[in-house]
Amino acid sequence: MPTWNYKEDIDYKSIKKEKVEKDELLFYMVCIASFIEITSKTYADNLCEYYKDNSDIVNWLKNDWEKEEVQHGKSLKKYVNEVWSEFDWEKGYARFLELYLPLCKPEALQSSKGLEMVARMIVETGTSTFYRAIENYALLLDEPVLQKLAHNIYKDEVHHYSYFDKFYNFYNKDEKLSRKKVLQIITKRLKEVNSEDVEMAFRAIYENKHSGSFDKQAYDDFLKNINKMASQHYPYNMAIKMMIHPLRMNKMVESSMVPIVRGAMKVLGI
Ligand SMILES: [Fe+2]
Ligand SMILES: [Fe+2]
Repeated sequence: MPTWNYKEDIDYKSIKKEKVEKDELLFYMVCIASFIEITSKTYADNLCEYYKDNSDIVNWLKNDWEKEEVQHGKSLKKYVNEVWSEFDWEKGYARFLELYLPLCKPEALQSSKGLEMVARMIVETGTSTFYRAIENYALLLDEPVLQKLAHNIYKDEVHHYSYFDKFYNFYNKDEKLSRKKVLQIITKRLKEVNSEDVEMAFRAIYENKHSGSFDKQAYDDFLKNINKMASQHYPYNMAIKMMIHPLRMNKMVESSMVPIVRGAMKVLGI
C-alpha cells in the first residue's frame, strides 16, 4: 500500500502559483508524467501475467506497485488542475489514450524473468532520477508543494527499484546471467527512453492547447529544452550508479566507472 496519501499529505492550497504558472516546460513535464503514470494498470497487468507463477511478485505488483504508480498520476493531475486550471486535463488525457492505446501492444517483455527485472530497474532509474530533477528544479523555483510532491514520488520510485533488484537476485540464482547479456538489456532499455508514450502525451497536450494542430518542430524543441534543463538539474551520478548496479561489479569498480560513463555520456550528448 502507498506510504503517503496525496489528498491528505500534499497541501495543494499552499502552492505558490506565481512561481510556476508561466513555466511551460514544467507544465508539459508534469502533465506528461500524470498521463503516463495514471495509465500504469496496463503495464501492471502485463507484468502480473508474466510472473503469474510467483505470488510474492504478483501481490507486490498489484497491492503496492500499481497503486503507488497510479497515485503518482493522480497527484500530478491534481497539481496540473490547481496551477494550470485553464487546461482541460480530461480532454487531453482522452486524446492521449486515443493516440497511445492502439500502439500499446502487450509490452515486449525480455526473454527471461531475471532479464525483465533488469529492464524494470532501468525504468525505475529513469523515473527516480526524473522526479529528483523535478524536486531540484522546484527548489530553485521556490515552490515547496511541487518539491514535496516530487520528493515523495522520487522515494517511491527508488523503493520500486530496490524491489525489482531483490527479485532480480532471486531469478539470477538460477539464470546466472552474464554481464554481457545484462549490459545488452541496459543499453536496449536506454535507447527506448524517448519512447512513444512521451511523444503521444506531448502531442495530446499540444493539440489541446493549439486547437487540434500538431507541430513536430514543437516536440523537437521540447526535447531540446528538456536536455538544457537536465544539464543543470538531472542527477547524472545517481542515474549511472543505479544503471550499472545490475552488473554486480564490486563497489570500488562501480565508483570508478561513474566518471568514465559520465564522460562518455557528455561525448554522446546525453
Ligand atoms: Fe511513478
Ligand atoms: Fe515506479
